[in-house]
Amino acid sequence: MSSLLTPDVQIFLATAGDYEGVMAISEGIYMGVDYLPYRYHTWLKDPQRRMFVAKSEGKVVGFDSFLLVDGGVTAVVQGLRVADWMRGCGVAGILQRFCFQTLRSDHPTVIRVRLTMVENPPATMLNTYHIIHSKAVISVFISAEQLEETIKILESRVSATCDNCIPPVFLEYSEVHNLFPGSLKEEDLLPGSFLMQAWLPITTNKDNLDLMHRWKVQWFCSYPCDALGDVTGSSELHDVKVSFNVNNGIKQTNETISKDDITASTFPASSKSFLGFLSLGSPMFPVPLGEGKHRLDIDLFGTDLSFAKIHVLYQLKEAVKKLSTGGSIICFVYIEESLLAGLNGFFEGFTPFPIWSKQLVLEMDLTAARIS
Ligand SMILES: CC(C)(COP(=O)(O)OP(=O)(O)OC[C@H]1O[C@@H](n2cnc3c(N)ncnc32)[C@H](O)[C@@H]1OP(=O)(O)O)[C@@H](O)C(=O)NCCC(=O)NCCS
Repeated sequence: MSSLLTPDVQIFLATAGDYEGVMAISEGIYMGVDYLPYRYHTWLKDPQRRMFVAKSEGKVVGFDSFLLVDGGVTAVVQGLRVADWMRGCGVAGILQRFCFQTLRSDHPTVIRVRLTMVENPPATMLNTYHIIHSKAVISVFISAEQLEETIKILESRVSATCDNCIPPVFLEYSEVHNLFPGSLKEEDLLPGSFLMQAWLPITTNKDNLDLMHRWKVQWFCSYPCDALGDVTGSSELHDVKVSFNVNNGIKQTNETISKDDITASTFPASSKSFLGFLSLGSPMFPVPLGEGKHRLDIDLFGTDLSFAKIHVLYQLKEAVKKLSTGGSIICFVYIEESLLAGLNGFFEGFTPFPIWSKQLVLEMDLTAARIS
């Protein structure tokens, strides 16, 4: 398939043979933490994804792709890039319009398009897109030599500030499917009712959960009751057992207290309004930045700082288990704005990797958009 759009730019379906060309225009993108070099061939095999290259005089000058999500009603555009010597000439616009035309002709069930950006969109984009969500981003570089010490420091910081936090539980996928609606309320944790999984904005639709299962995304959860500890007992009993079954360097408490002694202050103040907490850890992957360097994306959902810290720690420790000796990590944590100052303090003293400070989600109504 090809389509002549300007005298010297044509759009083609991307092939495995275009890999080198796409990599040649990607050099330096995202300060060396680009995902495309690692994902390109896997993406090509994904039946839910279409990938396109723009070529000029036979050379790749642009790339774009979309992934069908939300059970086929939404397309997420990902990976857009244009060769630096061709920027500002309209190639990105051409690629995107080609994606939209393909969606309309080949996937008529798709009614909306989403994409993510790292800064406010140009005014012209807001004619067709609107911003539906935004999160803050914190990123740190942890070298192989610093890894062990970093985890120790984070453990001690969790221990110092999360007296009564129960550690998050790892969720099996059968549990993920029952999470909403269940013990957690989607509207409490997921503003706008969609998840962000490493820059992919999707709903909690079953197909999306299955996708994440295939990608081995790691779910940790803290239930609303976790802030209270595990309170066992009944109204006939005089005593209740309050167990904060916490380990891994985090304060241990397992004591029985008289029922009469239980007052509102028995439990952490945050527990009364604690709505639960969720985190997604996307499997680490090697990035072009350098030998042994890996990128780890951790998405946090919830507004409780203590739980945010303990989730980061657990996701990081889980990821490190799979890291080969000598590997280092660029860790990105995506959070609600309200957690920014607190989590910056959590990472104080570590090497920042200042590339993105925010994550914006934009959405467009494909049925209403005028695409020329
Ligand atoms: C962002 C980038 C692709 C723009 O390429 P470009 O060829 O200079 O852009 P164009 O001249 O075609 O004009 C930009 C068009 O794309 C839109 N656009 C700009 N940035 C965009 C983005 N990040 N995502 C989607 N659309 C974008 C503009 O609104 C404009 O649309 P219009 O033609 O309908 O007015 C290019 O600068 C690039 O490759 N940057 C590095 C990679 C990157 O940051 N990619 C964005 C991922 S969020």
